Amino acid sequence: MTDLSPDTIEKLILKAHEMQEMSYAPYSGFNVGAALLTVDNEIYGGCNIENAAFSPTICAERTAIFKAVSEGKRDFRAIAIVGGKKKEIGDLCFPCGVCRQVMAEFCDPDSFRIITRNREGETVIHTLRELLPESFGL
Ligand code: THU
Repeated sequence: MTDLSPDTIEKLILKAHEMQEMSYAPYSGFNVGAALLTVDNEIYGGCNIENAAFSPTICAERTAIFKAVSEGKRDFRAIAIVGGKKKEIGDLCFPCGVCRQVMAEFCDPDSFRIITRNREGETVIHTLRELLPESFGL
C-alpha cells in the first residue's frame, strides 16, 4: 500500500473540518468531524451525534466507519479527525477507545493511519497499532 500524499492528507483534514459543521452536540458542546479514506480512494464523512439519553451518542469516527461499511466498504487507508468547541478546530483530537476498537475490526493495524490537526496547524499521524497495541480480536 502506498503512503498518504500531502495532498491526500490536506483533503482529508478539509473534509473532516467540513463534517465538524454537521456535528450535533447540544450536550457537550464539543464538535467532531471525521473523514475516512477507503482503499479505492473514496471519502466517507462523519460527525458526532449526541442524544438526550447520553449513551446513544455516537462519535464522528464511528459515524464515518458505519456509513462506509453499510455501503459495502470494508478496506480503509486512513481517517482524519478534528474536534473543538463552537465547530472550530481546537486541540489535537484522538479517537476514543471504543472507536479504536471499531477501527481494529476493519483496519490493518500497521498501515491504517489516524490523522489529527490542532488549531495551530500541527498535524499528528499514528498507525492504529500505535494507538491500540495488543487489541482484542477473535
Ligand atoms: N467524540 C467524538 O466524536 N470523537 C472522539 O474522538 C472523541 C469524542 C464526541 C463524543 C461526544 O459527542 C463529544 O465528542 C464529547 O465527548
